[in-house]
Formats: sequence, C-alpha cells, structure tokens
Amino acid sequence: MINTPLYVHPTAEVSPDAQIGSGTRIWRQVQVREHAQIGESCNIGKGVYIDVHVRIGSNVKIQNHVSVFEGVTLEDGVFVGPHVCFTNDLVPRAITPDGELKSADDWEITPTLVKYGASIGAGSVIICGITIGEFALIGAGSVVTRDVPAHALVLGNPARLRGYVCRCARRLSNVHQENGTIIGWCETCKKECLWQSDESRSGDGNAQ
Ligand SMILES: CC(C)(COP(=O)(O)OP(=O)(O)OC[C@H]1O[C@@H](n2cnc3c(N)ncnc32)[C@H](O)[C@@H]1OP(=O)(O)O)[C@@H](O)C(=O)NCCC(=O)NCCS
Ligand SMILES: [Zn+2]
Repeated sequence: MINTPLYVHPTAEVSPDAQIGSGTRIWRQVQVREHAQIGESCNIGKGVYIDVHVRIGSNVKIQNHVSVFEGVTLEDGVFVGPHVCFTNDLVPRAITPDGELKSADDWEITPTLVKYGASIGAGSVIICGITIGEFALIGAGSVVTRDVPAHALVLGNPARLRGYVCRCARRLSNVHQENGTIIGWCETCKKECLWQSDESRSGDGNAQ
C-alpha cells in the first residue's frame, strides 16, 4: 500500500507534541493540542478543536467545527457530524462555592467512548460518561445522555432508542435475538446484519 503523507493546512495549529498518522488530512483553522493522538487516514474538517490527550483512531471523519474535549476517545471508523459538541464535566462551574475562580486542577474529567464505526449526527451534544456502541447512529440534533447500544438508532432530546441500523447505516427490519446474537434484515444490502448483544459481551467480560 502507498504510504500517503500527512497533510496539514497552513492555517491549522498542530502541537509538536501531538501524534498524527500518515494519510490524515487536517483542514483550515483546526487546532490539535498537546499529546492528542490521531490515527491514519482521518479527515479533520475546518475549525475542529482537538483537546489535550484526546485519542482518535484511524479512518475517522470529523466534520467542520466539532469540539472534541479531553477525556473523549473515538475508535476507528467513527463519523462525527458538523458542530457536534462533546462535554467532559458533568457539573461545570467557573467558580468555587467561595466565589474564587476555579483552576485547571479544580475539576474532574468524565470520559466518553465512541466505538468502532459509530456515527453522530450534526449538532448533537454528547453528555460525558457514556459509551456509544459499534455502528450506532445518532440522529441530527440529539442530546445523548445514556449509553447507546451497538447498531442502535437514537434521536431527540433526550435521545431515545428508535430502532437498529445496519453497518451501512440504513434501518434494519425484523430485528430479533438468537443465543446472544442480534440479527436484522437490511433491505439495502439485501442480507442479514448480525452482532453480539451487549449483555452477551459483558458475559464474556468484554463490556466497556
Ligand atoms: C434519524 C435519521 C437517520 C432518519 O432516520 P429515518 O428512519 O429515515 O427517519 P424518518 O426520516 O423516517 O423519520 C421518522 C420520524 O423521526 C423524526 N426524525 C427524523 N430525524 C430526526 C432527528 N434527527 N431528530 C428528531 N426527530 C427526527 C421524523 O420527523 C419522523 O417523525 P414523524 O414520524 O413524527 O414524522 C436522520 O433523520 C438523521 O438525523 N440523520 C443524520 C443526518 C446527519 O446529521 N448527517 C451528518 C452529516 S451532514
Ligand atoms: Zn445495509
């Protein structure tokens, strides 16, 4: 395979302490902070902010003006729609109860994990401390407050389960479970889509 070089637009500001894989493209006015890790062949759109220590896998697409704050991990193949906002403080305050300005050490980060192949619709807000499962699809403008199961379609404020989607992101029909495997029919792919239920994964000790 040809090793495509990293591209960084001249207006982007990338910390020399960040690690970025080959083939990744970083567009206008992006800021990548110290110790952030970004994998190979990602596309980081205009005006994206990637905070310190954020971990991003390979083949990830982040659309314009997304903020990815410290504590967030995006696995391989994740899609983040324009203007999505992650959060990392469940109980934010600028000042202490005594009215003093809080310092950077005065708060606790709550982590968030977005798993392989998941997509987050435009303008969604992701409350911290949750896991979004593999190939889940979050509708545009959602406020995600709870864990999202693998392949789930959730939408609204608060985001609620509305069904399940295929790896191709189309809705599945006839979704049912057999011995810990969830199976649904994709009319677009003309085949079944199968995945392990989150309960059966936790039985294997693989739950996040
Ligand atoms: C959720 C989504 C995948 C559509 O799913 P769908 O199964 O085709 O849904 P439908 O269009 O048939 O709509 C079903 C119902 O959900 C509602 N709905 C659809 N998307 C919604 C959303 N994001 N939030 C709230 N309600 C939504 C529809 O209004 C409709 O309601 P109704 O039955 O009362 O009229 C799509 O609307 C969406 O949000 N995609 C993400 C787009 C995006 O952000 N892309 C980013 C890159 S540009
Ligand atoms: Zn499909």
